[in-house]
Order: sequence, then structure tokens, then C-alpha cells
Amino acid sequence: LSHNFSSTTSNNNAVQNIAVFGSGLMGAGIVQVAAQNGFKVTMVDLNQEFIDRGKEIINASLKRVAKKQHKDDAAAQKSLIESTWSNIETNTDSVKGAEKADLIIEAIVENLQTKQNLFQQLDKVAKPDAIFASNTSSLPISDIAKATRRLDKFAGLHFFNPVPQMKLVEIIKTNQTSEETYNSLNDVIMKMKKSPVISIRLVERGEASIKDVDTAMKLGAGMPMGPFELCDFVGLDTLKSIVDGWRKDGKIDASLVASAKSLDNLVESGHFGKKSGKGFHSYS
Ligand code: NAI
Repeated sequence: LSHNFSSTTSNNNAVQNIAVFGSGLMGAGIVQVAAQNGFKVTMVDLNQEFIDRGKEIINASLKRVAKKQHKDDAAAQKSLIESTWSNIETNTDSVKGAEKADLIIEAIVENLQTKQNLFQQLDKVAKPDAIFASNTSSLPISDIAKATRRLDKFAGLHFFNPVPQMKLVEIIKTNQTSEETYNSLNDVIMKMKKSPVISIRLVERGEASIKDVDTAMKLGAGMPMGPFELCDFVGLDTLKSIVDGWRKDGKIDASLVASAKSLDNLVESGHFGKKSGKGFHSYS
């Protein structure tokens, strides 16, 4: 297989070649966004019919993007479309499709066994230092990673639908994902002009920052304000008395209305949110 993609960066560790498995709704979107932002991408699916469907998805979306970016400039529209396509190759052979990838993003059917089978096969043929990522929406990343022997180079990369429009990508680390892998993925997402956030659990458990949660909900769920911004806007004293009231009431599952230390501490210190100048965020 010829390597017709030239090196464009001096950083040897930087991801340049990406293989995307699955050319459906999500896969096609990921291929488009990667190619549009200068990555060399190989789109892989089971047969030519699926590949052609993926190409149609990209074509339609790319035309819309080009029109939006270069309203009255037909030449610039054409150039964006052509340069994006020049970064895309396709393959129906999973071994060949994976060979030169620095990063493999899987967006195939949502089935654990199918994903494990694919990654087990790819583990044997991909570059030893290639990073593997799954776009699964519901399966535990560590369960999928188990099928490989590169647990330090395995993570979740959760794009949102429609990929070209949604600015958020969730990077999901397992216990074994290395810092180096996380940094490389972060770098890729920034180059795709998306905003990465570490997978959301409670800020109180120290696994995500307030900014992560607010960014995720604004860019990924389309909320006009993040949940912490909204708390500050409503007033933390008001919120605390609502939650305290629910708890006393006893009608709502206690785990849902358990007191939150971070909220209680802010209120005790006189930080009531936007109206007092400080809450979860600071306001000048
Ligand atoms: P889709 O059904 O549109 O596309 C899946 C594609 O994978 C199909 O073209 C299929 O032929 C191909 N495929 C199946 N097995 C394959 C294999 N072994 N090798 C190569 N290609 C193979 O599915 P969609 O919606 O794009 O979802 C893909 C993944 O992304 C799933 O894991 C899903 O949970 C996840 N996801 C979906 C979102 C959505 O809104 N649809 C949002 C975020 C994640």
C-alpha cells in the first residue's frame, strides 16, 4: 500500500493519519470534520455500498458548510470542498484501512461483541503505537478495550450528532488510559476546532471541573447556560432552600436531594451566585 500522504508537522508524535471505522451517520461526520481540518483520513466500512452512502452524507454536509463559510464566493466554496476530499481515502478492507493510522476511531454498530471483535483484529495489524478510540454512546470503554493489549492507548472519543455542527467531544479515560494518549486526543480535538471535556461525573468527586460540565451542556446538549451558570443565575441561597425543603418533605428519593457540600459551603460564606458577585463562578 503506497503512503501517498506527506508529513505536515515536525512533531513526530502528533497524529496525522486517522482511520475511521463505520461510514454511517457518525463515522461520515467524523471523517468530514477531520479531513476539513487537515488530517489524512481513511474511511472504512464493510462494503462499497456503505462507503458510497457515507460519501453522500459527507458531500451534502460539506456543501452546506462551504456555502455557510463562503457565502458569495463560489471559488472558495469549491476549494474547501476539493481540499477536504483530497484528504479522504476509502477502504473496504479493515486491515489495509488501519495500516497507516496513528489514530483509529471506531463508529460502527452499538454492539459490544462486534466492537470487541473489530478491535481485537485491529490490535494485531495497526501500528504498535496507534491510539484506539471508540465513539460508543452507551458501552463501557474498558469493556471494549479489554479486547486489545494496548490498554494505555485506548479511550472513548464521543462525538455528538450532527458531528459537523456540534462543538463538543467527550474524551473518556479508563483507569489505564495514559496521560500521553489523553494529550494526543486532546490535541486532535482542538485541531478539529471542537472543545474537549473529560467525561462528566460529579465535580465534587474531582473528576470534572465546573467549566467541563458547563461547556459540555452548552456545546453538547444545546443548553443556553451550563447547569452551574444556571445555579448562579437562580441564586444559590434560593436553590439551597428548595433542596432542603424537598429533603424535609421526604417525598423525593433521598439520594436525589442529598445535600451538596459545595453548595452549602458557598451559601454559608455568603456567596449566592450572580447577585452577590460570586457563586460557582465569579462575576465582576
Ligand atoms: P450507523 O448505523 O449510521 O453506522 C454504522 C456503520 O458501521 C454502518 O455503515 C455499518 O455498515 C458499519 N459497520 C458495522 N460493522 C463494521 C465493521 N466491522 N467495520 C466497519 N464498518 C462497520 O450508526 P451511527 O449512528 O453512526 O453510530 C455509530 C456509533 O456511534 C455507535 O456506537 C453509536 O452508539 C455511536 N453514537 C451515535 C450517535 C447518534 O446520534 N447516532 C451519537 C453518538 C455516538
